[in-house]
Amino acid sequence: MKRALITGITGQDGSYLADFLLQKGYKVYGMVRRASTEKYERIAHAKDKITLLQGDLLDQLSLVNAVKEADPDEVYNLAAMSFVPTSWTQPVLTGEFTGLGVTRMLEAIRLVNKNIRFYQASSSEMFGKVRQSPQNENTPFHPRSPYGVAKAYGHFITVNYRESYKLFATSGILFNHESPRRGMEFVTRKITHAAASIKLKLAKELRLGNTDARRDWGYAGDYVQAMWLMLQQDKPEDYVIGTGKMHSVKNVIDVAFKHLGLDPKRYVKVDKRLFRPAEVDMLCADYTKARDKLGWEPRVTFEELIRMMVDADMERLQ
Ligand code: NAP
Ligand code: GDD
Repeated sequence: MKRALITGITGQDGSYLADFLLQKGYKVYGMVRRASTEKYERIAHAKDKITLLQGDLLDQLSLVNAVKEADPDEVYNLAAMSFVPTSWTQPVLTGEFTGLGVTRMLEAIRLVNKNIRFYQASSSEMFGKVRQSPQNENTPFHPRSPYGVAKAYGHFITVNYRESYKLFATSGILFNHESPRRGMEFVTRKITHAAASIKLKLAKELRLGNTDARRDWGYAGDYVQAMWLMLQQDKPEDYVIGTGKMHSVKNVIDVAFKHLGLDPKRYVKVDKRLFRPAEVDMLCADYTKARDKLGWEPRVTFEELIRMMVDADMERLQ
């Protein structure tokens, strides 16, 4: 039985990855940080099958102990401060969690067992003000937020530990991926939840920032398979994961509201206070390498994804 340790198991991706690895017959360990109230909604359905270990990306000893105790074949480092706007209000903490936290995890692996395979959750946010479109593994980075800068550090330290210490360390450069388990503050979920609330007369309007921003949105359930595939290869390499299709925030609004028979013009307001100090205008993945080497393809389309999220929010609110 293979063993995996997932950091960030209580998050969107961690919960889908746990489901995926359990199905594959893995013994799954999840690292969680201590809180006065437990936040395990996303893994509640699988909690009996997962072993939770306490640890924090800020605390080196807790990481070493988590790796020792789980004794894993694979570590998936998904934990991070992942919400871009907060990275401007908490830039130092973001650097500690999202950047230096990766080094701490890599050091824990180097100390405990150099044969552990390591996945780092890197981000298309590193491309930022894009130098070419679509973006692939060779596109230069130009991050536009403290979050993007911290992720670029996490990416390069992963590459560096692979080159310096011959660790099996991979960096998955994932474009935006969503699901009914997406955090409420991210734009897709904010929209699908608001559309459902308005339909049920629980809300009257939706305030958004830059609705012209374009992203390559895919389904989180598809993307965790790519993470796993990266660790099953003969050689550790970095991969771009996305759908190759770009849509605007306005497109998300249209699909969500029309699915419920609502006219978005009546409810959606642009609020300048929600604009970012520096915006990433567009992101679009060239995932040719992942398709050719991993045999990976996204399955859920953009429209299916948004409708799935609206339906889940309707069901939850009803
Ligand atoms: P998420 O839902 O925000 O989950 C983040 C997870 O990190 C949570 O489990 C959180 O735990 C944990 N965490 C935060 N700070 C921590 C700390 N100091 N110590 C231990 N755990 C900590 O994020 P996600 O969407 O699943 O994304 C997973 C990873 O992929 C993140 O690294 C994100 O930056 C990256 N990524 C995401 C996307 C995307 O579109 N979703 C795209 C590219 C890259 P709590 O529950 O305790 O807060
Ligand atoms: N969150 C949010 N809220 N975004 C808004 C809003 C709003 O009210 N209005 C417009 N937007 C725009 C943002 O300005 C951004 O251009 C776009 O919608 C997407 O925002 P988010 O959903 O917050 O995602 P993100 O692209 O900033 O970051 C996500 O994807 C990254 C990968 O590219 C996160 O999951 C990151 O963790 C991830 O690395």
